[in-house]
Amino acid sequence: PNPATSVKLVLLGEAAVGKSSLVLRFVSNDFQENKEPTIGAAFLTQKCTIGERTIKYEIWDTAGQERFASLAPMYYRNAQAAIVVYDITKPASFIKARHWVKELHEQASKDITIALVGNKYDLVEDDTEEESLRKVSVEEGKGLAEEEGLLFFETSAKTSYNVNDVFIGIGSKIPEA
Ligand code: GTP
Ligand code: MG
Repeated sequence: PNPATSVKLVLLGEAAVGKSSLVLRFVSNDFQENKEPTIGAAFLTQKCTIGERTIKYEIWDTAGQERFASLAPMYYRNAQAAIVVYDITKPASFIKARHWVKELHEQASKDITIALVGNKYDLVEDDTEEESLRKVSVEEGKGLAEEEGLLFFETSAKTSYNVNDVFIGIGSKIPEA
């Protein structure tokens, strides 16, 4: 078998958008309704098989609370991949996501692979046209991703919708070591 390719990946995004929940779903196939905020950052690993390749993700799950903002550069500086997360029911989190993408393009490695992820899809999937919790449209998300050259997904850590696809999508863009 081929040796696993290690990929350093960082998650960034406003507090409570579901970064840790996406990681918990990917690593443990689990979800917690009342997940506690991350303090500083958390480190987890998970392997992912894509065709013939095995990728070992080394995941830095950063804290979104403003008081930890100064730590983020430490985690994205030598990352090969980043997931920038927003909550599709929270417009302010999408504005924050734009800022993270800009900062990554200015400060991170120039060949970093970035995925933009609009999370909490489960909250809008049963919406009617008259009444919707959705505050960020698919077009806005896709538009930003196209402008900035990012992968784009809407996900639910709660139902697991599209969560593996994010990591498979990123892995597929990482060049062979
Ligand atoms: P910080 O660590 O403070 O930056 O927050 P975070 O981005 O890691 O968010 P976290 O994963 O802790 O989730 C915040 C809250 O949102 C928790 O109560 C989760 O259960 C909830 N949550 C996360 N993902 C989803 C989702 O896809 N759908 C729904 N309905 N709730 C979610
Ligand atoms: Mg967290």
